[in-house]
Amino acid sequence: MRKKGIKHRVVIHNEIQAAADLLKKKQLVAFPTETVYGLGAIIWEEEAVGQIFSVKGRPPDNPLIAHIGNLDEVHLLAKNIPPVFWKLVDRFFPGPLSIVLPKKKSVPYIATGGLDSVAIRMPSNLIAQQLIRACGAPLVAPSANLSGKPSPVTAEQVADDFGEKIAYILDGGKVDYGIESTVISLCSTQGPSLLRPGNITKEEIEAVMGTSLGSPQKEAPPASPGMKYRHYAPCGKVFFFETTEELKQHLLKNPKINRLILGDPLPLNAKTLYLSLRQADKQMCEEICVYINQATRCDQALMNRLSRIILD
Ligand code: TXA
Ligand code: MG
Repeated sequence: MRKKGIKHRVVIHNEIQAAADLLKKKQLVAFPTETVYGLGAIIWEEEAVGQIFSVKGRPPDNPLIAHIGNLDEVHLLAKNIPPVFWKLVDRFFPGPLSIVLPKKKSVPYIATGGLDSVAIRMPSNLIAQQLIRACGAPLVAPSANLSGKPSPVTAEQVADDFGEKIAYILDGGKVDYGIESTVISLCSTQGPSLLRPGNITKEEIEAVMGTSLGSPQKEAPPASPGMKYRHYAPCGKVFFFETTEELKQHLLKNPKINRLILGDPLPLNAKTLYLSLRQADKQMCEEICVYINQATRCDQALMNRLSRIILD
C-alpha cells in the first residue's frame, strides 16, 4: 500500500504539471504562496496578463509583481541592478519581499501598469516554486481576489471570488502568513523606499541595506499605484475603537445586530485578519467592530491594511 504522504506528493506533482500546461496555453491559474494566494499568468503572454486585470476588475495602471523560480530570471526582467539588491536577495529570497527595479524593454507594459519598473519576488512556497519552474518563465500574480475584496488565504476563498472564470486553482491549504509581501523600491530618484509594509519589517531591511528606507513621495503618478486604491473591503460597515470602553458603549447601543468583533478579547493578528473579514461576509454581518490595542498600533503591516479598509 502506498504511504499517504507519498500519494499526496504524486497527486500534487501531476497537478502542478497540468497547471503549468494551462498557463502555457495562456490560461489563468491560481496558486498558493506563503503570503496569500496569487492569480498567475506567464509574464510574456500579454493576452493572459490582460485577462488578469479583467477577471479581477483591477485598474490597468496597478502593476503586477513578477514571481521568479530562480535568480537567473532577474536578468530577464530588470536592468541597472544595484549591488544592494543582491544583498537583500541573499537575506530574504525566497520569501515575502518584493523589490522594484528598472524594467528591461522586453517586459510588457501591460504587466507593469505602464511603468518603467518591475517588482520581483521569489516565493518560498514549494508549490509556487515548482509551478514557476514547470512554466520555465516568471509568473505575474496579483492576490487572487476580486479587486476591493480581502486577499484569499485558502483555495476555497479563491473559488468564492472567481468560480469558473479561471482555468485552475492549485490547493495548497491555508497560507503561512495571511498578509501580502513587503514591497520596496530601489529605483526611485529619491532613494530606496518602502512602498507596502509586510511581514519583513522596515527595520530588518534597513539592517541589511545599511541605509534607511524612505517613504514614497506623493508624486504624480504615485510610486506604487496600488496604494491609492481602497482594498480589503468587507460588505458590512466597519467601526474602529481605541478603547474597550468605547467598544462596550457601541455594543450597548444596538446589542442585537449581526456583527463580528475583532481584537477583543483576543488581539488582532495579521494571519487571521483577511480570514475574519471574509467570514464576516459569509455570515452576512451588518457590521464589524475592530478594537485596536497598543500592540496592533505598533504593527506597521496590520495598521496599513486596516487603514485601507476605510479609504475611499
Ligand atoms: O504577497 C504578495 O505580494 C502577493 C502574492 C500573490 O505574491 N501579491 C500581491 O500582489 O499582493 P498585488 O497585485 O495584490 O499587490 C502588488 C502591489 C500593488 O500595491 C502594486 O501597486 C505594487 O505591488 N507594485 C507592483 N509592481 C510595482 C512597480 N513596478 N512599482 C511600484 N509598485 C508596484
Ligand atoms: Mg492585492
